[in-house]
Amino acid sequence: MQIRLDKYLADAGLGTRSTVRKIIKQGLVSVNGQFVRTPDHKVDITSASGVRVEVSGKEVVYEPVSYYILYKPAGILSASRDGRERTVVDLVPEPKRRDLFPVGRLDRDTVGLLLITNDGKLSNRLLAPGKHVEKIYRAVVAGRLPEDAEQRFQEGIDIGDETLTAPAGLRILGSMTKDRFDCCISEHGITAGSSDDFPEEVSEEDTLTEVEVTLTEGRYHQIKRMFEAMDCCVIFLKRLSMGGLLLPKDMRPGEVRKTGYDALVRELGILP
Ligand code: URA
Repeated sequence: MQIRLDKYLADAGLGTRSTVRKIIKQGLVSVNGQFVRTPDHKVDITSASGVRVEVSGKEVVYEPVSYYILYKPAGILSASRDGRERTVVDLVPEPKRRDLFPVGRLDRDTVGLLLITNDGKLSNRLLAPGKHVEKIYRAVVAGRLPEDAEQRFQEGIDIGDETLTAPAGLRILGSMTKDRFDCCISEHGITAGSSDDFPEEVSEEDTLTEVEVTLTEGRYHQIKRMFEAMDCCVIFLKRLSMGGLLLPKDMRPGEVRKTGYDALVRELGILP
C-alpha cells in the first residue's frame, strides 16, 4: 500500500498536513536515503524491504494504527479534540497523532477505562448495536435502592427511550460511609459540589451504597438514568473493564499506556 509522504509524516505525529508540507519543501525529508521535496511523493508502507523516512537525519516511525488505554480522570471531555477545552485525546503523550478518538464516551465526571485509537474498524466493532462487549462499572449510589433492584436491572428498565434497557447485571457490594466516599472521590481528584458536573456534597444522613453494574450496551448516561428510574442518584462512577480488558490496578487517573492490536483484541475477547 502506498500513501503520500505528507500523510505519512502527519500520521506519524510530526504535525498537521500543512506543517509537514513545509518541512518537506524545505528539503529536510529523505526517503530511503534520497531527499524528497514533493509532498505527494508515494511511500510504500507495505514494502517487504521496509521504508526508511528521515526528517533532519532522524528516523520517523510510522504506525498505521495506534491503541492506548487511558485511566480517564474526572472533569475531562470524552471527545477527539475541542477548540476550547482539554479532551481525553489531549492526554495521550507525544508524538501525537491527529486522528485519534475515544472508543465511545464516558461522562465528564466518570473515571476509569477508556480506549483511544485511530482504528475506526475496531471502534465500530466495539460500538455496533448488539455487539458490545460486557462493560463493568463500580458506582456509589445515594438513596434507598428498592428490594428488587437486581431483578429490575435484569429485566430491563424504562429510562425514557423507545425500548427498555437490555438485561444488565447489578451486584450490591454494601453500604458506604461518608468518610469512605470522601476518600474515594478525593483519590480521583473530585471535589463534591465544585461544579454542575460533580455531585452535591453528601451528608452523614445520606444512604450510600456501593454497587457493580454490568452493561452490554452504551446508551447516553445509561447507568445514571437506570438508577434515576429507581429514585436513586449515582454520585461516583468508574469503568473497571471492557470484555476481559481490565483497568490495570497500578494505573493512576490521567495515565495513558500504549498497547498493541493483538494483545488488545485478545483481552477484549473479540475476534481479530
Ligand atoms: N453510564 C453513565 O451514566 N455514564 C457513563 O459515563 C457511563 C455509563
